[in-house]
Amino acid sequence: MGSQQKDVGILAVDIYFPRTCVDQEALEAHDGASKGKYTIGLGQDCMAFCTELEDVISMSLTVVTSLLKKYGVDPRLIGRLEVGSETVIDKSKSIKTWLMQIFEEHGNTDIEGVDSTNACYGGTAALFNCVNWVESSSWDGRYGLVVCTDSAVYAEGPARPTGGAAAIAMLIGPNAPIAFESKFRGTHMAHVYDFYKPNLASEYPVVDGKLSQTCYLMALDSCYRRFCSKYEKLEGKQFSLSDTDYFAFHSPYNKLVQKSFARLYFNDFLRNASSVGKDAMEKLEPFSSLSGDESYQNRDLEKVSQLVAKSLYDTKVQPSTLLPKQVGNMYTASLYAAFVSILDGKPSALRGKRVVMFSYGSGLSSTMFSFRLRDGQHPFSLSNIACVLNVSAKLDSRHVFSPEKFVETMKLMEHRYGAKDFVTCSDKSLLAPGTFYLTKVDSMYRRYYAQKVGDTDKCSTAISHENGSLLNGH
Ligand code: ACO
Repeated sequence: MGSQQKDVGILAVDIYFPRTCVDQEALEAHDGASKGKYTIGLGQDCMAFCTELEDVISMSLTVVTSLLKKYGVDPRLIGRLEVGSETVIDKSKSIKTWLMQIFEEHGNTDIEGVDSTNACYGGTAALFNCVNWVESSSWDGRYGLVVCTDSAVYAEGPARPTGGAAAIAMLIGPNAPIAFESKFRGTHMAHVYDFYKPNLASEYPVVDGKLSQTCYLMALDSCYRRFCSKYEKLEGKQFSLSDTDYFAFHSPYNKLVQKSFARLYFNDFLRNASSVGKDAMEKLEPFSSLSGDESYQNRDLEKVSQLVAKSLYDTKVQPSTLLPKQVGNMYTASLYAAFVSILDGKPSALRGKRVVMFSYGSGLSSTMFSFRLRDGQHPFSLSNIACVLNVSAKLDSRHVFSPEKFVETMKLMEHRYGAKDFVTCSDKSLLAPGTFYLTKVDSMYRRYYAQKVGDTDKCSTAISHENGSLLNGH
């Protein structure tokens, strides 16, 4: 059955991010950073974060419930559920098992898949697992479901403004409006200590910021070369930036995305100087003899390549930057938030367009791959996806916290990380109806969630749902 499937890819998407956020301009002033450091230097506008009421489990319960409801998908039709996350709440029990409550209620426990973890790459691994399943001979005709969920938080210091939080759910199947071009994948994996989480008592990573930037760019180069070479082998012609309409990058902060696209432009110049035009060719020529290592450290090259790539950046990359700039780094969800920012534009104009995606997870794992956007059948059409995503309304309904309140929340979350025997606060007023939230953690570390329904809660020691049925936290 699987080998016959055409246009396997993403049929439906939804995104959830907490309504609580902090403004980057206010944060840089509060932190005593020089004016413009977070907003221009890092290129970020705002940063979402979880309060004590939300975590990666509640966010994924919210987004999966929302996707199934808004696209009218019967939970019994899900045959595989894969979660990507690097936010560790439990070293054994997967987030996927939490999500099973949604499906158990409908008598569906026949769902393969667990969690994938490798920094920000886990979501891509989960996505590939689902796509490969639908394309395989073990596919049973049901949908795959991928969830990317993370809360990105850093200790006080230069990395703190590069946090964020979100969960994304993607429904996978054949005849998709967002179809994988599976044959063009380029991957680069290696062992490196750029960002890792060895301290299991803390939610914060250990991060070598400068090394992580270089690793990211080296992985990008390597993936791009492999992606181009596969394309060339299969299509019989050279690939360059002009062969794609959009790029979406894993986006820890926008400045790195600007540098990344400029790096790809420089790659095109090195592979075929005439592909970048005469003016750019002359400007980049002085850097053509730099070794790979030298080129990563060369500030003049960085500036010149960003300058000559600027107009292409504006058309091919800028549409993907809305959510990453507004929400921050969402770790596994970051690349897919960049992608849905493109869909938020003019869905009717996207038909036939190619989007090249770059996924990076520290440690490191990285892949470049591509989608082709197609017409789809309602409810799985680009226009309905944009309508469900409703990005602008979600951004507009946020509550901007002061930096002081943000820092206070981070302190409480440090205290709560790995803790037991506590209840969360009773004020749910900032949550949107339909949002799941943590109510308590008992003496055996079992977590309890409820869903906000309308203006009132159905809250208990177990999860309650809109339809009134009750599921125990086990
Ligand atoms: N106005 C404008 N720009 C400014 C200002 C200012 N007042 N002050 C500084 N800048 C610029 C700097 O010139 C620099 O830009 P450049 O790289 O174009 O030169 C930028 O702001 C950042 O400043 P730095 O001093 O270089 O870096 P900082 O010490 O603040 O750390 C870093 C930045 C490394 C990104 C840090 O936030 C971090 O470690 N983040 C987490 C790691 C990360 O996200 N890595 C990316 C890949 S791995 C992953 O996704 C987790």
